[in-house]
Amino acid sequence: MMDRSWMRGSTRHFKPYYSPDADGALRLDTNTNVLGPNPAAAAALADLAGLDFNQYPDTYSRPLRRKLAECHGLSEGNFVTGSGSDEIIDILFKTFTDKGDLAVMPYPSYSIYDYFSELHGGVPVKVDLDDDFQLDVEAMLDPAAAIIMIPSPNNPTGNSFRREDLLRIIEDSDCPVVIDEAYGEYCGPSFIPLVEEHDNLIVTRTFSKAYAMAGLRVGYCACGAAAAEMMTCIRIPYSLNMLSERAAVAALEDQDFIRRTVEMTERNRPKLADGLEGMGFHCFPSDANFILARSPVDHRSLVEGLKERGILVRDFGHRRRLEGCVRFTVGTEEMNDRLLQACEELTG
Ligand SMILES: Cc1ncc(COP(=O)(O)O)c(C=O)c1O
Repeated sequence: MMDRSWMRGSTRHFKPYYSPDADGALRLDTNTNVLGPNPAAAAALADLAGLDFNQYPDTYSRPLRRKLAECHGLSEGNFVTGSGSDEIIDILFKTFTDKGDLAVMPYPSYSIYDYFSELHGGVPVKVDLDDDFQLDVEAMLDPAAAIIMIPSPNNPTGNSFRREDLLRIIEDSDCPVVIDEAYGEYCGPSFIPLVEEHDNLIVTRTFSKAYAMAGLRVGYCACGAAAAEMMTCIRIPYSLNMLSERAAVAALEDQDFIRRTVEMTERNRPKLADGLEGMGFHCFPSDANFILARSPVDHRSLVEGLKERGILVRDFGHRRRLEGCVRFTVGTEEMNDRLLQACEELTG
């Protein structure tokens, strides 16, 4: 009979990923770009004359990798693309870990790392961040690690990690060290320029956040040529479709949109934090386009109350170290006013 005993043993406890019924709600729950779809990508998608989608896309996304090489001053052999950076993370685990291998990651952090580690039969080792949500460098340097995963800025805490701590982990470990820069556009400097210097450094990036293309599913990593070649052998051929690739190339040419996005976030983030603090929330410092805040009222009723008012935010309040915490994407001024007004009603 079809039951969970038929599933791969390492996955029997898995649950489906976060999937709310959005239904026209204001989405401040997924840290996408609140300015709306990327305009250069939209223009590229509006003009598809001559696109021969009867053929497969370039097997390994050469047009996009060439463009990335030009943007970052590296060569196309330094890049691997995927359907979102989640696919890149999957490829990393498939390429560099075997059954039983340890994957070291901070806690609290992005839950997809332990999902992929377990999916591929590995063992996630979660190293607690300190009280300022900074890394415990000694503990992260586990000599038994097969891979080390670190997002900076970190999700859901929002802070970036100290550059010297990240450098020390890269330099003192004998395994791939993945710096996940999904929110890298919001704070600098990137680790991408260092990939030729450190052959164990792999930097992942996405077009889902500042680039405002989450629905098109484009991600990539930058790394040394040797790591890229190994990952290319594992990656599913054609995994990035033609339309998304074309949109991503166009989006890279419009850096003005990224600058506007970052500038708007930097302007609105302190105002949102001040507004929340004024109602009794405790906001943690953020270098990204979202704020983690401890709610002065029960986190479930806050999130539910916001949902009833047509606003989605992400509830982390049931997790250890994040008790009572909720994550808010920084909106435009109008969105934040609406959010603060609703929070006022729910906390007042
Ligand atoms: C830290 C981090 N990495 C990676 C991703 C995955 O992004 P995508 O698969 O859309 O590129 C996310 C999405 O929330 C994230 O927060």
